[in-house]
Amino acid sequence: MKWITECFSLTAAVLLSGVFMVSAQEVNEEVCLSYINMYCVRCHTKDRVCKALGVQDKAQWQETIKLMAEYGNLDKDVQEMVFNCVTSLDPGSSSVCGIQK
Ligand code: HEC
Repeated sequence: MKWITECFSLTAAVLLSGVFMVSAQEVNEEVCLSYINMYCVRCHTKDRVCKALGVQDKAQWQETIKLMAEYGNLDKDVQEMVFNCVTSLDPGSSSVCGIQK
């Protein structure tokens, strides 16, 4: 009977992570865009962010954001917000990769 418990906890884990990913995206997409427009487009276009979506893993993003924050003197909460955005947005996300605003 052990496999049943294992199966259940696996399913729960998959469901939970799915829910988290969806809600992260739903909550953030518009906010993300305004943050990126406000804090990241000062120095380079969104194209730069777009190209890195889905290419950099979380550790790499952490490094990138830290570096950008040093360049741009960005607050901790801005860093966290943008980090959450870029690690949950889909590659090619229309909000980041769409027409430059
Ligand atoms: C103060 C200026 C400045 C700000 C603000 C800034 N960047 Fe950058 N960004 C740069 C520069 C300069 C480079 C090129 C650095 C390099 O190649 O070493 C860069 C490069 C990048 C790259 C490419 C990194 C790579 O390894 O190729 C990404 C992704 C990126 N920025 C994302 C962001 C995001 C997301 C934000 C908003 C939180 C942001 N940047 C804000 C100056 C800035």
